Amino acid sequence: MILVLFGPPGVGKGTQAKLLAEKLGIVHISTGDMLREAVRAGTELGKKAKAVIDSGQLVSDDIMVGIIREVLSSGRSAKGFILDGFPRTVPQAEALSSLLEELGITIGHVVNLRLAEAIVVKRLSSRRTCRKCATIYNLTEKRLADQVKCPNCGGELYQREDDRPETVLRRLSVYARSTTPVEEFYRKRGLLTDVDGSGTVEAVNRAILKVLGKL
Ligand code: AP5
Ligand code: MG
Repeated sequence: MILVLFGPPGVGKGTQAKLLAEKLGIVHISTGDMLREAVRAGTELGKKAKAVIDSGQLVSDDIMVGIIREVLSSGRSAKGFILDGFPRTVPQAEALSSLLEELGITIGHVVNLRLAEAIVVKRLSSRRTCRKCATIYNLTEKRLADQVKCPNCGGELYQREDDRPETVLRRLSVYARSTTPVEEFYRKRGLLTDVDGSGTVEAVNRAILKVLGKL
């Protein structure tokens, strides 16, 4: 199963990808998580990417395609995978098509999560992520109450640098300009299905599983 989870910042791609990867036994490939890990580890890639991510812009297509090529060629994702945050430009989508062709595999579904911009902004302003296990939370969740530690592993909960209000607006405008054309790229190829991202996490998950024919 090869699934592309598509949609604007804050729509719930990471949240859904984690659940789907567990349920379907496939690998979750998040380019955002990989870049943040590179920043944390202080690698050459991380040093280059940090300022770009923090300003809400996109890392170059060459770098991103190189990262994806390396992951997909490693064999780690042989049973199937979920792409979260890639492709984000038409050149990335084209490069992905060539790469999958080389590997002899095809995309099964592209799920386009949709959500009103005002709700996206609200979700991002109250997002918290665990530094240790990377679980994504929202301050509005009851299970967090006043906790500053991750209920899952006790790790520190932090707010992403790019979730500041001005950076969120920049990310949304970069999405509108550079990423929405990818929607058309996949719609034209009959691969894309819209899914309403405004329900509960469980409701959205069921809707995606239905599209995948897994419910
Ligand atoms: P990336 O990490 O991919 O960020 P993004 O696409 O902006 O998406 P987010 O991670 O912000 O949101 P999400 O959709 O995963 O939502 P989440 O599940 O967390 O990329 C970061 C940066 O890296 C980019 O800006 C760019 O610089 C660079 N980059 C990455 N990939 C690149 C590429 N291919 N090319 C170039 N540059 C690249 O949920 C958000 C919040 O909502 C959470 O608090 C969550 O708890 C809550 N929530 C989720 N679902 C629900 C629900 N159903 N109801 C209520 N709350 C919900
Ligand atoms: Mg994410």
